[in-house]
Amino acid sequence: MDEHDRWREETRQSWNVATLAHNRHKLDQARWLASGGSPLFPEELELLGDVAGRRLLHLLCNAGQDSLALARLGAKVTGVDLSDEAILAAQNLSTESGIGAEFVRSEAFQYLEHEERRFEVVFSSYGALTWLPDLDRWAQGAARVLEPGGRVVICEFHPLVWSIDAEWRLSKDPYFAPGHRFSAPVEDYVGRSGPALAPMGYRELDAPFHNPHPAHAYQWTLADTVTAVARAGLFIERLTEYPYANGCRVIPSLVEGEGRRLHPPPGVPSVPLMYGLVARR
Ligand SMILES: C[S@@+](CC[C@H](N)C(=O)[O-])C[C@H]1O[C@@H](n2cnc3c(N)ncnc32)[C@H](O)[C@@H]1O
Repeated sequence: MDEHDRWREETRQSWNVATLAHNRHKLDQARWLASGGSPLFPEELELLGDVAGRRLLHLLCNAGQDSLALARLGAKVTGVDLSDEAILAAQNLSTESGIGAEFVRSEAFQYLEHEERRFEVVFSSYGALTWLPDLDRWAQGAARVLEPGGRVVICEFHPLVWSIDAEWRLSKDPYFAPGHRFSAPVEDYVGRSGPALAPMGYRELDAPFHNPHPAHAYQWTLADTVTAVARAGLFIERLTEYPYANGCRVIPSLVEGEGRRLHPPPGVPSVPLMYGLVARR
């Protein structure tokens, strides 16, 4: 096992522990999804367009709540994630909610480089790309599994958010550090975000959260991502920035507003906190 295998293995274990805790915060997910509840935000829905009947690959799908909401809109969804607990939870949620989707436990590059089927949409959102150690490999893999005319759709936190601290100073991680690896256990960010990340109903954990496993994330600028997509031969149709973050309190002092959106505190000038990207093969 080389160091990259070890980092990926630690990341898998860290996500297993975190996913169990994140799901413990969320009440009665199956019934909520089955009765029409959806964790999706208007931004990704607008970027995706009509998904009915589309073969959609949801990369880094975690426990499948978004994947199943897309399936309920009529997409033929395959969700892929590294975490055993995430995929197990997604498969159970699919059975219990009665919403059909396929879930595969796999490392993203392994999946993209070996899958024989082709998709009309390759989608990722909210804290996905930062887990990938090589953006060219991701973009080339996504281009490989897309059928001609198919689209990559990304709705992501802007990488600038990892530089900003609670007092809104640029004291955290450097923005320009391509591929720099950050190692820390996956946190209980659902607990930090509350109902904004648990629209089905939120509860506190019974015991304090502790994750013994480090996870390894990577810093990519927005330009790194756009360039990787262009280098893979995809045609960039759209790049949008948003001055708020959906759902997750990626900076501790964000203030929740309407629609589970988190905004900078009053008096802070607007900066991009999310972006959307659509690129076509
Ligand atoms: C923040 S979550 C993504 C959440 C997602 N937006 C959703 O719909 O819930 C990040 C996910 O990436 C997965 N992950 C991390 N590294 C991965 C890799 N190399 N290949 C596949 N999945 C990976 C983790 O297991 C975790 O479930």
